[in-house]
Amino acid sequence: MRSYSLIAPAKINLYLEIISDRPDGYHELTMILQSIGLADQIDVHSISTDSIRVHCNHSQVPTDKSNLAYRAAELMAMQFPEAFAQYGGVEININKQIPVAAGLAGGSTNAAAVLVGIDLLWKLGLTQPELEELGGTLGSDVPFCVAGGTAIATGRGDQLSPLPSLDNIYIVLGKYRSLEVSTPWAYKTYREQFGDSYIRDSDNLAARANAVHSGAIVKAVVDKDPGEIAQKLHNDLERVVLPAYPQVLQLREVFANQEGVLGTMMSGSGPTVFALFESQQQAELVLRQVREAIINEDLELFVTRTITHGIKVVSSV
Ligand code: C5P
Repeated sequence: MRSYSLIAPAKINLYLEIISDRPDGYHELTMILQSIGLADQIDVHSISTDSIRVHCNHSQVPTDKSNLAYRAAELMAMQFPEAFAQYGGVEININKQIPVAAGLAGGSTNAAAVLVGIDLLWKLGLTQPELEELGGTLGSDVPFCVAGGTAIATGRGDQLSPLPSLDNIYIVLGKYRSLEVSTPWAYKTYREQFGDSYIRDSDNLAARANAVHSGAIVKAVVDKDPGEIAQKLHNDLERVVLPAYPQVLQLREVFANQEGVLGTMMSGSGPTVFALFESQQQAELVLRQVREAIINEDLELFVTRTITHGIKVVSSV
């Protein structure tokens, strides 16, 4: 085969707790990550020259080394020089549907798709843990994106434990096109504002342990109870992003006030806000209501649902 087409789904964070800072500059996290139906399509082809080329239908997406998908191909070429020499270069086409810089792991899932695609193109036969380990060197969310579904992520976000699949929850996503939140900024600001108190003050640590705890939402996920999951949504980064971005706070409040919304939360470092629903009909109704409540061309809204997979091959030639 000289060409593969892959589906690369986005993710949302049902839970994101910042436990502490780490010597490597990252933060120790407990997250619950969930794949969603909103996805990009990634095509990878072998080409005769020994170069890596990236094309994308979205003008904001870079096609050079600053694109994580490019770096994923470069990593494979470095790790497997014999296969690179044998099969030649790689051309990557990204059909972008996932909003960029949105807290939905759009770049990470593209990189995961490139790892899976090149593994197939070059007949490497890598295992899921091997692909995840390679992904971890590219970014904290890349390992999850490989197999997707529902998982607890700890460490930097790269240590994964699968949870039972959730395939019955409907979602509305809202994102302002022109609004981007820098992930390093969000974590740095969190550390500056809240880091000292909980990392070094044991009293505060105890108070915090009572305030948020992933156990309750893990139980709700195991019970596959959408209402209970929605009640236990949590994201520490809301504490810094919502005050700095009043539009995101307003969107979250508008979602929270709609009938049928089980719960609402910002995903990752934002600025995307999501709301959970029992049915597609309710989700579609609320999408229309939010569009009427916030008259703003800049606001993108999507209906999607939880899905049980990560990167998936859809065709090969
Ligand atoms: O791993 P990734 O490149 O996606 O992370 C982007 C940025 O988010 C990091 O440079 C860091 O500033 C922040 N981050 C963090 N702790 C994590 C994950 C990300 O501080 N566990």
